[in-house]
Amino acid sequence: MSDKNQKTIRVGVVGCGVVATAYYLPYLLTRKDAEITAVCDRRLSRAESCKRIFGAKAAYDDYDRMLRESDVELVLVLTGPGTHVRFTVAAVESGRDVLLQKPMALDLDGAEAIVAATRRAGRKVLVEPSAPSPIAPNYAEIRRLVRAGVLGKTSWFSCIPSGPTKAGHPALAGNPYGAGAFYTKDSGGMIFDYAYGPAQIAAVLGACKRVTGMATITMPDRYIVPEEHYDKFLEAAETPEEANYWDAAIAAEKTQPVKMEAPDNAFALFEMADGSLGVYHFGRLFQPTRAPATYGGLQVLGTDGNLIFGAGHMASVYTTRRDLVPETDEEGWFHFDSPPVDMSKYRWPQPPPGAFNYYHASTDHILTCIRDDRDPVLNVEYGRHITEMMYGTSVSAETGRHYDMTTTIDW
Ligand SMILES: NC(=O)c1ccc[n+]([C@@H]2O[C@H](COP(=O)([O-])OP(=O)(O)OC[C@H]3O[C@@H](n4cnc5c(N)ncnc54)[C@H](O)[C@@H]3O)[C@@H](O)[C@H]2O)c1
Repeated sequence: MSDKNQKTIRVGVVGCGVVATAYYLPYLLTRKDAEITAVCDRRLSRAESCKRIFGAKAAYDDYDRMLRESDVELVLVLTGPGTHVRFTVAAVESGRDVLLQKPMALDLDGAEAIVAATRRAGRKVLVEPSAPSPIAPNYAEIRRLVRAGVLGKTSWFSCIPSGPTKAGHPALAGNPYGAGAFYTKDSGGMIFDYAYGPAQIAAVLGACKRVTGMATITMPDRYIVPEEHYDKFLEAAETPEEANYWDAAIAAEKTQPVKMEAPDNAFALFEMADGSLGVYHFGRLFQPTRAPATYGGLQVLGTDGNLIFGAGHMASVYTTRRDLVPETDEEGWFHFDSPPVDMSKYRWPQPPPGAFNYYHASTDHILTCIRDDRDPVLNVEYGRHITEMMYGTSVSAETGRHYDMTTTIDW
């Protein structure tokens, strides 16, 4: 349906929730080559509010009707995980390209269904998250150096997402809203919410070969902000800036009981195709931690070097292979720096101005791929592999056996 020579790409957004209104819709407004043609949410007032605030042409409460009646060319699937497979398959089968929020699917069959439908239809599908991924700054260079031997033989890695150091931080415990996106069985729980870890590990080390998982539910009974609170918030918002729900969600009272139906605390042991072994934690802290603690980002250790993320730099590598890095500091570390950003302007969880904003980068990437008629870097085969790393964790946790990966990526 896309005509690559046309000036404007018509975009439809399904799921007018928090990521739509905080990140994608405001960014689409700034793009001269995209038009917000349709918005859809099963809670019609959310779609109507987004139509008014972001100037969409039409609002729907039924996704299939949006696909039938509107002439959108690109669909942003921003609903909860349980809908991702059906919505993406329906979009590509009706000739649309797709940007799909993570997780792609909750099992391998779902991911395979998306791959098959996308390839059959010859469409473009970008699978989030692009942070951290091959399209995030410095990851291509890190991967190139790892392949060139900057770490020697990679031995082991650990990837434990960092935790807040202050009490009351919104990242503690779990999302303050969104039962269907984060708590119900078909949300996939935190294993499938935390696609970021498998994505980061694969971006640095390439394909995964085998997974062993353990999973549990630490806090089954929780409270979240009622859905109606967000409906009313959007109804009162007049500008795109006023439609960013985060501050209001954090300040609101959590009065709606919700069951955590899927694991909120899981560990995966990954054996990578390069022979390295590593551990990843899927889940949240409930209380603040203290720096410096072992609770940090990815570190990869090898016979000739160590790579660590964080500690004031995007990533740093210590290596005996000095020939591979342009320079080192006095202790022998080479630092990969992202462009400097003003952290005083940081408003959680909005990236500070100038920092890598993955929602924007992915939007840019899919629009460029449609225009240039090329497959996204984060294509369906890439998404399937990241999905299988999470699926393997969950299957292994249930069966008590290793899970052998059946897919791979060439990266
Ligand atoms: N919140 C975050 O920080 C964040 C960050 C990155 C990715 N994500 C991902 O983005 C997706 C959405 O997250 P969110 O935080 O915006 O959740 P949300 O609950 O705020 O939004 C989901 C929206 O989808 C709508 N919806 C659900 N089923 C639907 C259906 N069948 N038809 C039409 N609309 C339907 C809901 O009514 C809701 O408005 C999830 O997959 C999540 O993993 C969220």
